[in-house]
Amino acid sequence: MANIIIIGTQWGDEGKGKIVDLYSHEADVIVRFQGGNNAGHTLVTNNEKTILHLIPSGILHDHKTCILGSGMVINPEVLIEEIERLAERNLPHPNTTLHISDSAHLIMPYHVRIDNAREAKMRSGKIGTTGRGIGPAYEDKVSRTGIRICDLLNEEIFNQKLKNNIEEKNHLLTNYFGEEPVDFDEISNKYSVWADRLRPYCGNTSILIERSVKAGKHILFEGAQGTHLDIDHGTYPFVTSSSTVAGNACSGAGVGPTQISAVIGICKAYTTRVGSGPFVTELSDETGQKLQEKGKEFGSTTGRKRRCGWLDMVMVRQSVRLSGITGIALTKIDVLTGLDKIKICTGYRIGKGKDREEIVDYVPSDIKVIGQCKPVYEELPGWSEDISTARSIDELPQAARRFIERIEEITDTKVLLVSVGPGRNETVVIRNPFRLIK
Ligand code: GDP
Ligand code: IMO
Ligand code: MG
Repeated sequence: MANIIIIGTQWGDEGKGKIVDLYSHEADVIVRFQGGNNAGHTLVTNNEKTILHLIPSGILHDHKTCILGSGMVINPEVLIEEIERLAERNLPHPNTTLHISDSAHLIMPYHVRIDNAREAKMRSGKIGTTGRGIGPAYEDKVSRTGIRICDLLNEEIFNQKLKNNIEEKNHLLTNYFGEEPVDFDEISNKYSVWADRLRPYCGNTSILIERSVKAGKHILFEGAQGTHLDIDHGTYPFVTSSSTVAGNACSGAGVGPTQISAVIGICKAYTTRVGSGPFVTELSDETGQKLQEKGKEFGSTTGRKRRCGWLDMVMVRQSVRLSGITGIALTKIDVLTGLDKIKICTGYRIGKGKDREEIVDYVPSDIKVIGQCKPVYEELPGWSEDISTARSIDELPQAARRFIERIEEITDTKVLLVSVGPGRNETVVIRNPFRLIK
């Protein structure tokens, strides 16, 4: 059994897409289990870039089963566009199949409208959401008024649920947000066309996963966002609306925790964040700008500039705890090349004045407290050699190896892989997680 969960250890955009694509080589089934098209996962193969928002990052390979799991929120228009863009490239390959859970929830036009109207109305405390309707869709799911993929497939039920929802949403849109209402007929007609388009892909994906597990297939669970955007464990309220920790892979895919053999945490060699919220190691100086430019830190979904800062090991260690991470994939280490010194944050200093100061090694729950935290840094030597062509650990300079070792020491977790560039092959594999399990 080699069923592996892959999650982000920071605030998203750690390079999950690249690593899932790489590991898909060894997997049979690849499952997205939460989130929606707020995600933007970038794959670079033969110098060709693919950005996936909904479809699992195994889709470029042949002989794979790609699943959009029950825990996701799916905008059918975006999904169809993504399917069509791949079709233009003759993808997926003939033996790769795509499946959509019929219990996943739909993102509706009013979700997108409410998401953006709410952000626009806020004078302060804007979350900086991706504006894709993720929060409002999950709200409806939890309030039990959501519309699911199985409803989409039944026109009568869909229209009934749509009618009920529209009554409430239009009240909110017009009376509270001062917006135009949404139109029932327009939505009903569009969704009816999309239903026919998506029908062949829809079904019970938990059963599909169970069959795959029984047949001894290898399953990869592809997380979206990152641990510190988790609705329960992140920097609330500056989080997304789903659970991004490994535990939710089981719930969101419909598989028991006893079927999981390993959890890989993707960790970028520095920290980035898109959207608002506290960021202890944020750099607003030249180094931060260098990381942003060299790392091409622009959001894959919204194109926004990502905020950049030093690697925050307080966050990463917390992610190891929250998800039971068994191995780390360290990405974008090449972006650090050329820096004289590299800092990593090992603790947070809280409190004013020396006597009342306290150093903690966890992320406090209260964002006001996080906002007051000052980073405690450890300084490591940098390197100047180009490492993008390194393919084995011995080819990395001593200082880069020390950086990797330090991450292992602080997290008490092995680094399985080091990514030295965006391309699939620009990778130093130290330990193969599938072979470790087999
Ligand atoms: P995800 O959301 O976690 O899948 O990450 P994104 O795709 O949003 O952002 C990661 C970005 O970094 C993408 O543009 C990748 O192509 C790129 N990338 C991934 N790994 C590396 C790496 O090791 N080095 C460099 N320079 N870029 C990388
Ligand atoms: P991937 O999978 C980075 C952030 C948004 C915002 C907050 C809430 O590519 O790593 P939402 O639209 O989810 O309600 O926005 O979460 N966010 C992400 N940041 N990577 C992502 O996904 C993100 N998905 C959401 O920027 O701060
Ligand atoms: Mg991304």
